Amino acid sequence: MAMSPLLIANWKMYKTVEESASFARLLGPRLEGWWKPQAVRLVIAPTSLALFAMARHLGDGPVALAAQNLELGREGAFTGALSGYLLHEAGARLVIIGHSERRRYFAETDGLVAEKVDAAWNAGLTPVVCVGETEAERDSGQTEAVLKRQLSAILTKPRDDDKPLVIAYEPVWAIGTGRVAKTEDVGQIAHTVRQWLSTSQGPKDVPLLYGGSVNPDNLGGFLRLPDVNGALVGGASLTLEGVVAMVRVAQEQI
Ligand code: PGA
Repeated sequence: MAMSPLLIANWKMYKTVEESASFARLLGPRLEGWWKPQAVRLVIAPTSLALFAMARHLGDGPVALAAQNLELGREGAFTGALSGYLLHEAGARLVIIGHSERRRYFAETDGLVAEKVDAAWNAGLTPVVCVGETEAERDSGQTEAVLKRQLSAILTKPRDDDKPLVIAYEPVWAIGTGRVAKTEDVGQIAHTVRQWLSTSQGPKDVPLLYGGSVNPDNLGGFLRLPDVNGALVGGASLTLEGVVAMVRVAQEQI
């Protein structure tokens, strides 16, 4: 599927507001003159606290911002919660939903993930839904069943075709471990997921990302897979050099 590669930097709970803002300030000059934003789309997901400060530096430019989570609803008596509307106002245009760290440490279920996808759409945000099997699930041959369960929570309800959606396949055992999934396995899984998407009632034109220990050296191999349209990158996206190198690799694939 001919979609321009999409790179999303997931900064997790790293970088202060000051560091994030300074990254946003320095990024533009490093990309200027050679980056073609229509060819490679770049999104950064800082902590929610840093969205506003980064948005001030990035302005209406081509680098988009994403939140790493949202809570349901618009406003209300929900101490500590941030709604999609607040995140959108702070500058986010996408939101990561159902990351394995949220599923694991914050007990997010498939049902809640589906509700958050609706909440994202209601707030005008593009949901980036993460799915992936644990090592035990992989070893017991359950990868497809797990992915099907996680995806069917969001794909079985009838939805408008024009609702934007991004799916990130992130094998849990490959996240932050340096243990990258084999490109041929990712290619096979991406192909299966693409087939489910084409027969589901949900949106069809869905960028499918790979995530899990992606870095500038292995990114090209994933982007060459016909059913993979980009990457969700954690650790390797924390430095300016890492992000610039990955935009360059992605642009060379086109
Ligand atoms: P990693 O993280 O690139 O550090 O493995 C990816 C992610 O958690 O999205």
